[in-house]
Amino acid sequence: MDRAFGFYPKGCRFKSCRGHHLNSQIGCASIPPEITSVTLRGVCIVYTKAMQGKNRWLELGILAALLLAGAAGFAHAETGQEAWLRYAPLEKSARSKYKSLPANVVALGDSAIITTAQDEIVRGITGMLGRPLPAEKSIRERAIILGTVEEIRKLTPDFQPSEQVVADGFLLITTQVHGFNCLVVTSTMDRGVLYGVFALLSKIARNENLTTLNQAEQPQVPIRWIDQWDNLNGTIERGYAGPSIFFEKGQVRTDLSRAAEYARLLASVGINGCTINNVNADPKILDSTFVPQLAHIADVFRPWGVRLSVSVDVGSPKSLGGLETFDPLDPRVTEWWRVKVDEIYRQIPDFGGFVVKADSEGRAGPSSYGRTPADAANVIARALRPHGGLLFYRAFVYDHHLDWRNPKNDRARAAYDIFHPLDGKFDDNVIVQIKYGPIDFQAREPVSPLFDGLEKTNQGIELQITQEYTGQQRHLVFLPPMWKEILDFDLRVNGGNTPVKDLVAGKTFHRPVGAFVGVANVGMDANWLAHPLAMANLYAFGRLAWNPNLSAENIAEEWTRLTFGNNPTVAQTIVSLQMKSWHVYESYTGPLGTQTLTDILGSHYGPGIESSERNGWGQWHRADHDGIGMDRTMATGTGFAGQYPPLVQAVFESTQTTPDDLLLFFHHVPYTYVLHSGKTVIQHVYDSHYDGADEVQAFVREWKTLQPFVDTQRFTEVLAKLEYQAGHAIVWRDAICNWFFQTSGIPDAKGRVENHPGRIEAEAMQLDGFVPIDVEPWENASGGKAIECRKASGCSATFHFDRAPGSYEVDVRYFDQNNGTSKFRVLINDHAIDEWIADDHFPATKPNGDSSTWRRIPPTALHPGDEIRIEGFPDAQEHAPLDYIELRPASAPDK
Ligand code: GCU
Repeated sequence: MDRAFGFYPKGCRFKSCRGHHLNSQIGCASIPPEITSVTLRGVCIVYTKAMQGKNRWLELGILAALLLAGAAGFAHAETGQEAWLRYAPLEKSARSKYKSLPANVVALGDSAIITTAQDEIVRGITGMLGRPLPAEKSIRERAIILGTVEEIRKLTPDFQPSEQVVADGFLLITTQVHGFNCLVVTSTMDRGVLYGVFALLSKIARNENLTTLNQAEQPQVPIRWIDQWDNLNGTIERGYAGPSIFFEKGQVRTDLSRAAEYARLLASVGINGCTINNVNADPKILDSTFVPQLAHIADVFRPWGVRLSVSVDVGSPKSLGGLETFDPLDPRVTEWWRVKVDEIYRQIPDFGGFVVKADSEGRAGPSSYGRTPADAANVIARALRPHGGLLFYRAFVYDHHLDWRNPKNDRARAAYDIFHPLDGKFDDNVIVQIKYGPIDFQAREPVSPLFDGLEKTNQGIELQITQEYTGQQRHLVFLPPMWKEILDFDLRVNGGNTPVKDLVAGKTFHRPVGAFVGVANVGMDANWLAHPLAMANLYAFGRLAWNPNLSAENIAEEWTRLTFGNNPTVAQTIVSLQMKSWHVYESYTGPLGTQTLTDILGSHYGPGIESSERNGWGQWHRADHDGIGMDRTMATGTGFAGQYPPLVQAVFESTQTTPDDLLLFFHHVPYTYVLHSGKTVIQHVYDSHYDGADEVQAFVREWKTLQPFVDTQRFTEVLAKLEYQAGHAIVWRDAICNWFFQTSGIPDAKGRVENHPGRIEAEAMQLDGFVPIDVEPWENASGGKAIECRKASGCSATFHFDRAPGSYEVDVRYFDQNNGTSKFRVLINDHAIDEWIADDHFPATKPNGDSSTWRRIPPTALHPGDEIRIEGFPDAQEHAPLDYIELRPASAPDK
């Protein structure tokens, strides 16, 4: 290799390409051992071993200097893989702010976590400040000292932390050690030291002042865990960012480098445990051949202080162990769990515990033997207890065969009805894991009343980071404003001040533990969650689990600065987009507490208004010709409101005091009911959907202003997502407005619904080879119909322009299924103006609200009589389905 070094902005394909050499097209490929490489800021730097100093810090120093020198040149490609831990070179002025930072680091102790902490601080300082940070063994000058309080006292017995920190808490302080003014990062535990290092690096990345540092932080909640719903075959239930980082083809992956990177990300926001497999657990996870594989994952988690745990099937003693029963009260079952748990701890001594989903959505459960969730939880918890393991028993237990004809039936009641009577019956290492709302991660739900129903039982809150019902990372939805509403909600237990955040932290009833659990479902996609802005949700989950009193806005700002740099325009714009996004999404997908009006029987993605009705799943909104909403009052409804403490119950019991955004969750009202806002319910439905769709168009415009400041790759990826979202918001808007108009018969006072003057339906065009089809449900296509091409050689749909001459944007609404790759071409007077391939990935094999998407063709001059032709070329099962064309004068505001 004759090149001394090279920069490859797309990054090394592997975390480190050591021993490999890089080909700029394909990433790491094996060969010359004299070549080595490292990835910094997503840029792969390749250099000859001759350049490599003996010490690792020197090597990183050289590379960081190279990186700083060339930083401007690389600003154009970031994959997002580094997430908020980019350690991007700071601007010159910011760098000079940290000139007085000690020039070396001394790590006390040699545990894996302390070594990790030292490597991290070297990596961070080198990357951001462009100077090496040598690791020394002793203090001979000013130093950054990393170590537990105990270790620091060995060095300097007088060391007195200025503030008390325990467990994962940490202290950052500038103080004299051996006569030198040192920066000390300390805690009572190694893990706390690591958290302190991440906090320090975050401050530097955000240009915070460090001159008089004396900051103690203590997590509010001891258990801060992530659940992944990964299947052993490598797929992920409700995952939207590629295959599993843990499993592949029924085995644990041999290359766990992504799992290690994930643990680093989790640790950086204080997450201390991760459950790696689907709550709908495959019993094989506990197989004796599998446990050693799990140990490999624990090995890559351990240096980051992340405990491994797994979801288990309570039927395992029978299905895996060969017993004839899994009755939790059968001594053979008790013994089976004991032996199995001992086997695990022999191989994974710091194993975290198990998550259990039982008697829910078809899972095996104790009800088969007339036993309770407490019976099932305790038998497993007792096996875990001697080892310090925890058992998370999910409260997501309900009957999905409810009789929808019975107006008293209510799925929302299930968790409280089942678990409240068992309060006090769970062992102390059991945590009842409660979804934030009584249904299932909807865009809007009231808080679960079970939070107030457990006083003598540990509880934890389950939040969903993966956007199952909130746009699946194709729509921008920053969830912390919703989480904050839930966490800050005061349940007024016993008339007191009892916000959910205190209940789940174990504070209110002085429980030994409390927990935050976030269902994340990151995947192999380079940027982890598919949408470059979605990682803000994972970051925020960790930050809120650490401190639920942080504001959503501050967290958004922290994340943005770490992820995109400190440019104030970028920070302001992204924070503003993030902060608006949840309300906007809610406003076009199901307002007033109707929950997400999506296809609840399938994808949970596009509109599917009636899918929740007239079936046993219990997500009913009971909309008919006259009115809408579930009556959950004590007086006339299902009685669900009575599960809240009296002061809260009183609020939800009456339409007058129920907030508008939860009205239809608690009450059935006529469409003409007047909200607190002064609008009728039906007009609110129309207006909110139109406003919401318009706001997404504004998101696109706002994002475009950031082009000069954001690297090309992430700028382009976000733009593509927002443009798609703008189109899909119109699908939602039209589906819901049309459905409610047809159902209620009440027209939109503003005349917009079912009135689209710029629209030409595909089925109304002159068709050659295309045939009209009915789309189901009807509201998911304009006019209920689309056209499909039934000629392998291709089809055309033609019409003649008959409006005022001028420049028009042409929106082509088509369907992109995942079972074919059709092609489209648009021609004006035989002249092609655009062509594209329908190769996006949506959860649909048919033309419907999941697959509906659009192509916006930039302004084109049109004259009366012009022939506009759309050609479609089918592929496999996808027949180039087309819905309509919409022409918009180029000067018209976005619609
Ligand atoms: C939702 C989700 C399921 C999941 C379930 C759960 O219903 O759609 O995929 O298994 O929640 O939380 O157990």
